[in-house]
Amino acid sequence: MHPNSGSNPIAPPGPEDTPAAHGTPRPASTSARLYAAYQGDGDGKNAYPGDRDVAAKMTALGLQPALIARANRNFVVRTVRYLAEQGIHQFLDIGCGLPPENGLTTQRIAESVHPDTARTLYVDTDLAVLAHADALMRGRREDATAAVQADVADPGAVLDLIPSHLDPARPIGLLLAAVMHFVEDDQTVQGSVRRLTGGLAAGSAVVISHMSDAYDPEAMRQAEAVLRGGGVGARIRPAGMIRELFDGLDLTDPGLVPVNRWRPDDDAEAAYPVSDIHILGGLGRKLP
Ligand SMILES: C[S@@+](CC[C@H](N)C(=O)[O-])C[C@H]1O[C@@H](n2cnc3c(N)ncnc32)[C@H](O)[C@@H]1O
Repeated sequence: MHPNSGSNPIAPPGPEDTPAAHGTPRPASTSARLYAAYQGDGDGKNAYPGDRDVAAKMTALGLQPALIARANRNFVVRTVRYLAEQGIHQFLDIGCGLPPENGLTTQRIAESVHPDTARTLYVDTDLAVLAHADALMRGRREDATAAVQADVADPGAVLDLIPSHLDPARPIGLLLAAVMHFVEDDQTVQGSVRRLTGGLAAGSAVVISHMSDAYDPEAMRQAEAVLRGGGVGARIRPAGMIRELFDGLDLTDPGLVPVNRWRPDDDAEAAYPVSDIHILGGLGRKLP
């Protein structure tokens, strides 16, 4: 299912294309482009000037968006590899985001363990993300990935998509990485995670990373305001509320921790003070 075959809505903006060049206001940021801006957006193709403004304002608050984004991304890589090594072959990556600079997409990681059987269904609300997912996040096998537009706040619609690409009778690795904090309503977040996990086969797993105000609530309220000013609604939640998202699941060691402390394979990354990370991550298994 490739929703963006045909026109390409994600051609990189050249100087003549920028809103400023046309005397128009800057477009609102999107969480996907911001994430690219946080990571430096190597060749400058994904982030717009407004996104870089938001990143600069985050830095002015004393935060380290590049560090946070990289730590989160590395957490995703480690959890997907861990689940693949534990025997999971299929992944549902909701809020998949733009392709990572290092090319380590969910499918690439999964097929490094299961070259012939790994499959990934990428889901996002942002059509530009889906166009990239369609073009750049494929694996070695053409039909191993699909990219579909859906909202994590509508879990029934997401569950309905599964059979078109994944086998619902077998365990699935559900990724909710750095996405639920963009859903502002607490009940919706709780309800979505519960409904999604409820719809997966026993043995499935849920990976969640989520911005938390555990270490500096005041800075996080300001960060929410900066994001809102850039056009991106966000709710940076207390650790206890993120922990509740794993209720009913078997939380794998080391539990819900700053993402750089989740089974790190790099001492340097693990050494970053947790108070710099502001994003908690965990992995829960659905028991038989
Ligand atoms: C910060 S990026 C995270 C990318 C990737 N999951 C990671 O952790 O590296 C957040 C992504 O979530 C997507 N997103 C935001 N709200 C969403 C929603 N309600 N449903 C699905 N995707 C959403 C954004 O479009 C963006 O691509």
